[in-house]
Amino acid sequence: MALLPSWAWVLAGCLSAAAGASDLSGLYPPLWEESPGQFSDYRVENGKYIIDPWIFTERMGAYRILLNQTAPYFEKYAPENEQNILWGLPLQHGWQYSSGRLVDPTGRTDCGYESRDHLCISVDSWWADINYFLSMLPFLAAVDSGIMGISSEQITLLPPPKDQTKFCYDVAGCWSTFPDIMEKWTAFFQYMQSPSSDFDGLLNHLWVAHTSSLKYPVTIFEDRYAYYVNPEADFEKNWAVAVNYLAAAQLPTTLTRSHSLQKGLASRMLLSTDKAPFIADFTPLQNSVLVALSSLGDTDRLTGSLSLAAWKISMKTEAARKFFLQLLENYVALST
Ligand SMILES: *[C@@H]1O[C@H](CO)[C@@H](O)[C@H](O)[C@H]1NC(C)=O
Repeated sequence: MALLPSWAWVLAGCLSAAAGASDLSGLYPPLWEESPGQFSDYRVENGKYIIDPWIFTERMGAYRILLNQTAPYFEKYAPENEQNILWGLPLQHGWQYSSGRLVDPTGRTDCGYESRDHLCISVDSWWADINYFLSMLPFLAAVDSGIMGISSEQITLLPPPKDQTKFCYDVAGCWSTFPDIMEKWTAFFQYMQSPSSDFDGLLNHLWVAHTSSLKYPVTIFEDRYAYYVNPEADFEKNWAVAVNYLAAAQLPTTLTRSHSLQKGLASRMLLSTDKAPFIADFTPLQNSVLVALSSLGDTDRLTGSLSLAAWKISMKTEAARKFFLQLLENYVALST
């Protein structure tokens, strides 16, 4: 008799493990399967693959290829590429898309709007501009690192309809305009390929590259804030601050974790009347994340980033980072 329940447990365990495994694709970002999965899915001109990063599926396709090509380096941590820490980037971009943050904030064009030009990514979107430096630059650095199976000359990106000089379009161009960003991403991909790489080291390199990608666009696209109502513009500014704190904590942006943490992010663009924690159509978690981001942003500005310096010191040990992650996950679990 006593055997029966334990067998039931084993069976239930197997079933949920099997379900868990096949469920992973449910965590993929929107339109993942519809996006290019290999270079030959893109157009070819004069022997070069042409990617238009101002079309959602084309930008997402670059992530899809990147995730596919880096999968072997994360196999030793878990099956199905679940522990690939690059997942954070396409998931973040998927959230930008589904929450309406890639649309033309000026409303002058149809770009990005549902039932109109919904796959269009607007160059006037603050989120889209920042993401360019977190998608195309790592992608080109990966190509240049030799892990993508094509050579550096074989890829060209199409320019947006305006502000062309604020972006770069191929490996050589990105190296000459943004050497620091390219160098940090290349360091990540080189470290990833070294036989002695470990998970903590990967996270460290990833976050160094991530923060270096933000420095330039966060200052150069400040004019975009004017296109948004105050709560959304404040959210953008606070988000740009918060990323530095998450970077210091070396948040492990694996598939499951990124997906679960993203539940805390505002599910639509903020309106002028939105006042967290009282936004009725947001979850308690989404409301409290907005409040937390706003006080973090205020603290950072008031202390002239001294709070960040202090935070970086306190996050120096792996034990402290683990503790913070535990707190963060408990907080997410309790508020959902
Ligand atoms: C990578 O892409 C190839 C070809 O499309 C596919 O067979 C393979 O399963 C993919 N690998 C992963 C980890 O998704």
